[in-house]
Amino acid sequence: MARTSIIAGNWKMHKTVLEAVELINALVDSTERVEGVEIVVCPPFTALYPASQALAGEHIKLGAQNLFWEEKGAWTSQIAPGMLKDIGCKYVIIGHSETRGRFGTVDAELEKVLSYFSEADETINRKVKAAFRAGITPIVCCGELLEERKGGKTDDVVRGQIEADLAGMSSEQAASLVIAYEPVWAIGTGEVCDAPEANRVCGVIRETVREMFGSHAAESVRVQYGGSVKPDNSRELLHQPEIDGALVGGASLKADDFTAIVKSAL
Ligand code: PGA
Repeated sequence: MARTSIIAGNWKMHKTVLEAVELINALVDSTERVEGVEIVVCPPFTALYPASQALAGEHIKLGAQNLFWEEKGAWTSQIAPGMLKDIGCKYVIIGHSETRGRFGTVDAELEKVLSYFSEADETINRKVKAAFRAGITPIVCCGELLEERKGGKTDDVVRGQIEADLAGMSSEQAASLVIAYEPVWAIGTGEVCDAPEANRVCGVIRETVREMFGSHAAESVRVQYGGSVKPDNSRELLHQPEIDGALVGGASLKADDFTAIVKSAL
């Protein structure tokens, strides 16, 4: 089954409203004639609404970087799935290593700060279910730490995350899902996972989906690679048979770089 490649920009904590709208306008122009690749941008919460207005009627889709699972109530600081749906979000990133509490950075101070978020697989599973209830497609992130890779545990770690994060989904939901394989050691480091190995692990993820939800879900689910994807390495990654797109951090902040990555998927 031919799966449509999906290239998503994870802007993290970057861009004011003005900067976000500028970048979106530039991307709308530069990717206008691109067909056969789905393009998604995930700005920070403060820029989501203006971003949705800038994207109205355009070919680029909008995603958020997080949500909470309750629909409303006394949850100071949290954002409900229905609120994201209301402003036109089609996707939401869930379980990114920067919110999971799986950071594996070499900087102890930074690690300490990041670990305050500490999402567990159960948290991620609740968020995935809540996204589906609201009609938003989750982009579920998984990936191993450097020590886990060195210890030969990559496949077990990734399988364990997928099994826990997707527990209780229907096979139809699993079929429509996007999973991002993001080895933690490759995120923001400039150290990309080589393409055949990224392809192999994406294959392990697909097999896990097959065991849990059957062949239709496994052949339909889109598995992205993420971690230091740049214009000079994206083509090889995006043409691997098990890799159906990319989740791009740093290189999604510049219109030229993100456009080049999108076009390299063709
Ligand atoms: P990066 O980030 O492309 O800057 O490595 C990817 C991500 O964290 O999704």
